[in-house]
Amino acid sequence: MSKRIPMMAGNWKMNMDHVQATQLVQKLDWTLKDGKHDFGVVEVVVLPPFTDLRTVQTMVEGDKLDIRYGAQDISVYDDGAYTGEISGPMLSKLGCSYVVIGHSERREYHQESDELLNKKVEAAYRNGLTPILCCGEGLEIRKAGHQVAHTVAQIEADLKGIPAEQAASIVIAYEPIWAIGTGEVATPEDAQEVCAAIRAKLAELYSAELADGVRILYGGSVKSDNVVGIMAKEDVDGALVGGASLKAEEFAKICMFTTA
Ligand code: 13P
Repeated sequence: MSKRIPMMAGNWKMNMDHVQATQLVQKLDWTLKDGKHDFGVVEVVVLPPFTDLRTVQTMVEGDKLDIRYGAQDISVYDDGAYTGEISGPMLSKLGCSYVVIGHSERREYHQESDELLNKKVEAAYRNGLTPILCCGEGLEIRKAGHQVAHTVAQIEADLKGIPAEQAASIVIAYEPIWAIGTGEVATPEDAQEVCAAIRAKLAELYSAELADGVRILYGGSVKSDNVVGIMAKEDVDGALVGGASLKAEEFAKICMFTTA
């Protein structure tokens, strides 16, 4: 019997300035509280742009909100002459719990390699941040039926040399690229197939016990009307939500999927 607590994480991507962030987080908090959401049953996370993090920290700490937050990227370096980069120490000082690493949009538009992402995973752990490590295949690979091999190879490369004590807390997000922002949601069976394979890879790299405790999220066009089916799958422990996380009521519904 697994003790995994489901996580619903809203990846805002490059949306919402810090003023809009205040409104969104406030409304999300009210809506969840109105719906008597139990934050101990489903963890709620927001992942705003860097420029919003201080504002979100002030609200979460000041009003003692149960919402957790994190960043969308991290530098492999802790300080120095790296213009435009944001470091792990800066993110931990901002109270971030999580950091997204290896989102397909960064792999694709910023040419982030598995070798670099492996260093980002190290940087996150070195600074007390939990990675939300993203993986997933594009349409060509899916059509060829190689989604499992492709995705587990990414995970193996990104976790190279990461010790079990650290890997035990990792969150993995399986996001098939063809289902991101397209309205094309993978079927619950598609999600389950790859999430189960990722868990099996973790068992092989570490141990069955470690693999059983790791949360694996699905991401790609998740909405309140498809989340229940996806969450019914054994190896899916939550969702990484893009577009639908920008609307407080919709994201709150996703977080409250157990009461749907
Ligand atoms: P959408 O939910 O907008 O498809 O985005 C998914 C995603 O990329 C989350 O990281």
